[in-house]
Amino acid sequence: MAPFKSGARKGIALALVSSLIGTALGSEASTNGSLPAYRNPHLGVDERVDDLLQRMTLEEKAGQMFQQYITAGPNGTVDETTGQWVDELLMTHLAFLGNIPDPVEAAEFHNRLQQRALDTRLGIRITLSTDSRHHLGPGFIGPPADGYFSRWPGFLGLAALRDPELVRKHADIAREESISIGLRLALHPQADLSTEPRWARIAESFGESAELSASLIAPYIEGLHTEEFGPNSMAACTKAFPGGGPLQNGWDSHFTYGMNQTYPGNNLDYHLIPFKAAIKAGTRQILPYYSRPINTEYEEVGFGFNKGIITDLLKGELGFDGIVLTDFGLITGGDAAGQYLPARAWGVEHLTDLERAAKILDAGCDQFGGETRPELVIQLVQDGTVPIERIDYSVRKLLKEKFLLGLFDQPFVSVENAVRVSKIEEFHRLANKTQRRAYTLLTNRDDILPLTNQAAPTKFYIEGFDASFLESRGHAVVATAEEADLALLRLQSPFEPHEGTFEATFHQGSLEFSSEEKARQAAIYKAVPTIVEMQFDRPAAIPEIVEQAVAVLASFGATEDALLDVVFGLAGPEGKLPYDLPRSDLAVEANLEDVPFDTEDPVFKFGHGLRYTRTASS
Ligand SMILES: *[C@@H]1O[C@H](CO)[C@@H](O)[C@H](O)[C@H]1NC(C)=O
Ligand SMILES: *[C@@H]1O[C@H](CO)[C@@H](O)[C@H](O)[C@H]1NC(C)=O
Ligand SMILES: *[C@@H]1O[C@H](CO)[C@@H](O)[C@H](O)[C@H]1NC(C)=O
Ligand SMILES: *[C@@H]1O[C@H](CO)[C@@H](O)[C@H](O)[C@H]1NC(C)=O
Repeated sequence: MAPFKSGARKGIALALVSSLIGTALGSEASTNGSLPAYRNPHLGVDERVDDLLQRMTLEEKAGQMFQQYITAGPNGTVDETTGQWVDELLMTHLAFLGNIPDPVEAAEFHNRLQQRALDTRLGIRITLSTDSRHHLGPGFIGPPADGYFSRWPGFLGLAALRDPELVRKHADIAREESISIGLRLALHPQADLSTEPRWARIAESFGESAELSASLIAPYIEGLHTEEFGPNSMAACTKAFPGGGPLQNGWDSHFTYGMNQTYPGNNLDYHLIPFKAAIKAGTRQILPYYSRPINTEYEEVGFGFNKGIITDLLKGELGFDGIVLTDFGLITGGDAAGQYLPARAWGVEHLTDLERAAKILDAGCDQFGGETRPELVIQLVQDGTVPIERIDYSVRKLLKEKFLLGLFDQPFVSVENAVRVSKIEEFHRLANKTQRRAYTLLTNRDDILPLTNQAAPTKFYIEGFDASFLESRGHAVVATAEEADLALLRLQSPFEPHEGTFEATFHQGSLEFSSEEKARQAAIYKAVPTIVEMQFDRPAAIPEIVEQAVAVLASFGATEDALLDVVFGLAGPEGKLPYDLPRSDLAVEANLEDVPFDTEDPVFKFGHGLRYTRTASS
């Protein structure tokens, strides 16, 4: 079965896509010269939403309330499953998980998908969302950075530079690149705090300090939205309310063993500080996390099911009136990157699917993430459990977002523009420069770094990257530490490997290297002066390395070229640690999950970062 069913019929429209910009074609418009009000760009948004809403069937409304991950078919085609969700389930919110290595194909994929939606009865446009795809580094669970997007250090690297204007510029560039291929909803930024250093999702946060996170979240959102939220914006969905940091013992709540979130320091308010900044900056959407709070005043059910958290705290106390999108897969278990995960229905495991859906609506959420079950909403309305007014309340918000984003007036992207944007050199130059600046120099014995006065060729022993990077700079790479003049190790911060294709991507558990690995490294440090790059996602407990290596650089997402530019002084490290580095697993176990900066005798404190005393030219 051809993935793009109506290919022949739509061939002409697709060929014309790039010249159709600004024209809203669709079945209704083409059959009648006068546009229905919702298609009329001269009317106000509220009037258009009202007009559309009153035309919609219950099935069409229910379809709006679901958002699911999709990938693209071969050569940027719409695969059969995605096509069915659009044609039959009438879904219009899709989260793009794929990685299309070419801007032409990516733009064409978006336009094919949009055409598919235009062919439905009302032609309600697709909103395509995405996890962050501009960042390098370990610890990301979203799609990899696209080859033609500028590639930045991870969020922790941006936090290390503590520069709100740079964050605004970064988000503005990510916005322009993303919308050029039709990605209009950002499932980020992450306002969570790394108060529990073992949590697996610290890489996408701005670190441990609520004040630092708040100061960067706001310009990030403003950069995604631009001055005025509209046709050039990417909508921000800030996550994961009310702050996913304080997971009990750091286990992640994607998994049954990590469902509990805990506040032994009675410090929930601290975790709300970045969310308050996000709301003030106008975040359009907020996503509550999977976890359930234990031993608090709130019901012990996942945050998406939690009326006290969503309605009373988020909407009531914090005054948020945007869209609440649940985290993905609260009702239905299913496949995650090749691994079966049960529904993340923490605390409501005993409820039926229908009861779970009702509880999520009652909590105050507007849209079900990671679900393709409009029949549940239809049944809840038909059996009188949920009044249609409650459905209209959420659908109205979801439709309004599409009108504000300009999707009704300009559903297609221009392939030529996607190619043009992918080639804007300034974006790549700034991203590359930021990778280098975000390096954080932890130790530098006898100012060994930068290596500006080494005899070339120097004989290097290396680990963690390819010899060609050094060889192309005129240095030799040898097989053992004993033969070398210097060692350069590119290490990843330690974690306990887990089974399961999806679970294995979560770096959880111990922050220490195993005793075997510590001994293996110690032999190298003893044999030859060694420079270590620690590629951080979570913090690591590495006092031995700090003691035994001649220099330690921390990085938060950088290419090999960036590393070597910093090592050889073509760029200098400017970062400061975005979190404390604890001394040991034992020290971490004594911490309170929800309290920042409470690790005893840290190896380095938040804010530590040395500078070079000379550069390549001095
Ligand atoms: C089509 O257009 C005519 C006027 O040109 C209008 O009277 C009629 O209501 C329209 N029909 C629909 C279905 O919008
Ligand atoms: C994808 O495009 C290439 C090059 O045009 C073509 O050879 C190939 O058959 C296409 N694959 C599919 C599945 O359509
Ligand atoms: C979560 O906390 C509850 C209540 O304290 C406890 O009974 C349960 O064992 C905990 N679950 C996990 C997976 O740790
Ligand atoms: C940025 O870095 C990449 C990879 O390191 C390189 O291929 C590219 O040419 C650089 N771009 C600019 C504009 O410096």
